[in-house]
Amino acid sequence: MAFETIIVEIEDHVAVIKLNRPDALNALNTQLLGELCSALEDADGNDKVRCIVVTGSDKAFAAGADIKEMSEKGFVGVFFENLFARTNDRISAIRKPIIAAVGGYALGGGCELAMMCDFIIAADSAKFGQPEINLGVIAGMGGTQRLTRYVGKSKSMDMNLTGRFMDADEAERAGLVSRVVPAKKLMDEALGAAQKIAEKSLLTTMAAKEAVDRSFETTLSEGILFERRVFHSMFATEDQKEGMAAFLEKRQAQFRDK
Ligand code: CAA
Repeated sequence: MAFETIIVEIEDHVAVIKLNRPDALNALNTQLLGELCSALEDADGNDKVRCIVVTGSDKAFAAGADIKEMSEKGFVGVFFENLFARTNDRISAIRKPIIAAVGGYALGGGCELAMMCDFIIAADSAKFGQPEINLGVIAGMGGTQRLTRYVGKSKSMDMNLTGRFMDADEAERAGLVSRVVPAKKLMDEALGAAQKIAEKSLLTTMAAKEAVDRSFETTLSEGILFERRVFHSMFATEDQKEGMAAFLEKRQAQFRDK
């Protein structure tokens, strides 16, 4: 499928999806969000892909939902369109691991998109924020919910109420991002992490993602029960036999996703 607002490249089992509306700092309009969801779903269903990286430009991962597109809309319009909730649902349904490689601005929907990925690797240039409050609205793609789970109530309230930006170091201290690297090394770091994930059994990386995600949806005892069931089920796979045999034989495991 030909895309106009994103660029997709697949190499060495990693799909890289680059948001590409440079004139609007990758603002997330209807077309871009539709293309992004389609590309993620394509990658999820593509046997050659074992991990996905979503990224933007040096200046902006994404500066939020497209304000020009939104500005004319009324309640009834956004109610029936439901663009951001539909996007949230489609991205949340992706089962393969997704890394967000964030340089520059990740604001509003951009921050929310990064948080929908499984983890965030940030360039030292990254700036995160939920500045919707300045526009007379609140976050609409998970910013009041996911940011609170990532960084706790106090910082989430601060970000959502003042609209201030958080730099990469603060984001790392707060637990929003997993690593911060010099801007020039962002893609090397993200691709290196994606490659590490791609080397594992896809069965196992998808199960691990499902189990960690479960922790956001349930109590600790239910989550532990879910983990136990998935852990036990892994012993029905050839990859468990291979992984453990390879360790004992002091060689590299050859996983076959079986
Ligand atoms: N939507 C549409 N266009 C945007 C945009 C956005 N979110 N962010 C930037 N742009 C456009 C600007 O309008 C400008 O276009 P023109 O050259 O045609 O005027 C171009 O991108 C460059 O932007 P700036 O000139 O503003 O660049 P800057 O370096 O001076 O400032 C910035 C950068 C601080 C990110 C600033 O652009 C900004 O504050 N952007 C808006 C951030 C924002 O409020 N995001 C939240 C959106 S609402 C939302 O996301 C809802 C939700 O939860 C789903």
